[in-house]
Amino acid sequence: MKDTPIDSSSKDSGGDGSNGPSNRDDDILVRVGLLPPGHQPLHLAQREDNEKTSVVVRYVDDVDEFRQLSELRRKGWESTDGDKAFQAQRQRADNLAQDVSKFNYDLMGKIANELHIVTGAFKMTPGGPKKKGRVLDLCAAPGGFLNTAMRLNSGCDAMGFSLHPKEGGYSNLLSPFRKRCMKFLDVTMLAADMGVAEDEIPIDHPDADKFLPRQIEQGDYYDLVLCDGNVLRTQDRSSGAGKPSGASSDDNDSSKNTNKNYRDLYENYRLKYVQLALGLEHLQPGGTMVVLLHKVEMWNTLCTIRRFARFSDRVHLHKPRVSHTTRSSFYMVAQGVNSAHPDAVAAVAKWKAV
Ligand SMILES: C[S@@+](CC[C@H](N)C(=O)[O-])C[C@H]1O[C@@H](n2cnc3c(N)ncnc32)[C@H](O)[C@@H]1O
Repeated sequence: MKDTPIDSSSKDSGGDGSNGPSNRDDDILVRVGLLPPGHQPLHLAQREDNEKTSVVVRYVDDVDEFRQLSELRRKGWESTDGDKAFQAQRQRADNLAQDVSKFNYDLMGKIANELHIVTGAFKMTPGGPKKKGRVLDLCAAPGGFLNTAMRLNSGCDAMGFSLHPKEGGYSNLLSPFRKRCMKFLDVTMLAADMGVAEDEIPIDHPDADKFLPRQIEQGDYYDLVLCDGNVLRTQDRSSGAGKPSGASSDDNDSSKNTNKNYRDLYENYRLKYVQLALGLEHLQPGGTMVVLLHKVEMWNTLCTIRRFARFSDRVHLHKPRVSHTTRSSFYMVAQGVNSAHPDAVAAVAKWKAV
């Protein structure tokens, strides 16, 4: 690792000193702009991710492009203009959740088109000349991706889930003819699909009454699976106050977090893993998955990409030019995914167990 001075503002990060090496790891991530100065580690999973990400950062610390990017990100954290721009972006996103604009729907369509031009991902090639293909979108509203898939694969089967607008989700803007394929539900509550039987849910679980019965039949396969969900700040997750009784004590070892809503602490992981697990489980062998990811140098993100590379013919990473330009987000397009490969089956089991 380079002996580069650590940003003095980062010395606050890490809290009470009981976190051992993760304090130093967080300092490195603050220096390269992957964490904001003064960041407080939330929970064990995030601390472990930070610790391993710092190994990646040390590895690429000598690369000119990475150093330039780090410098830009660090300036971004310090700039009040940047704060204002992101604040305005958050406000726009929150307003969209209440009143989804056609603008966002069109934007998602443009992103899908761009992804398709670069990778050909949205045109399905199902087995057999008469088959039209099947598409599953796990976080579909307002519907730009699903509309693109249906437009490029005339007559295909389509199914989409999305958070209900009453729970803070986006509206379904698909044309009246296509609208019916989208169902509003919270995918993180798909307990039966994730392999948890009703009688396995502890009765004192804060969300016991919200878990859902099976929505995708076993052995039901899709040629194209879209995983574009991101956690919405407008979503009401309040009933999940406290810690679920099934959680291990390690999950929540930071005493600061005992009164926090468990869903606020873990929602990113819950949403990511439910999409990956159900998406890959129900992908036709040889099919395509389009997955929204964040921060390519984060350990967790790299592990996801590496995992797909083991059982896919091609894995393409694409940052759209029409959007996401000032964010860390990008898309992974995995094609020729052998979902029956033992590593794929093991990945689904692992994600379901998280
Ligand atoms: C960026 S938008 C997806 C846009 C979509 N790909 C399109 O083409 O229009 C993210 C979506 O994730 C959904 N979402 C977030 N949390 C969810 C959850 N727990 N269950 C289902 N959908 C969720 C949001 O409601 C929103 O529709």
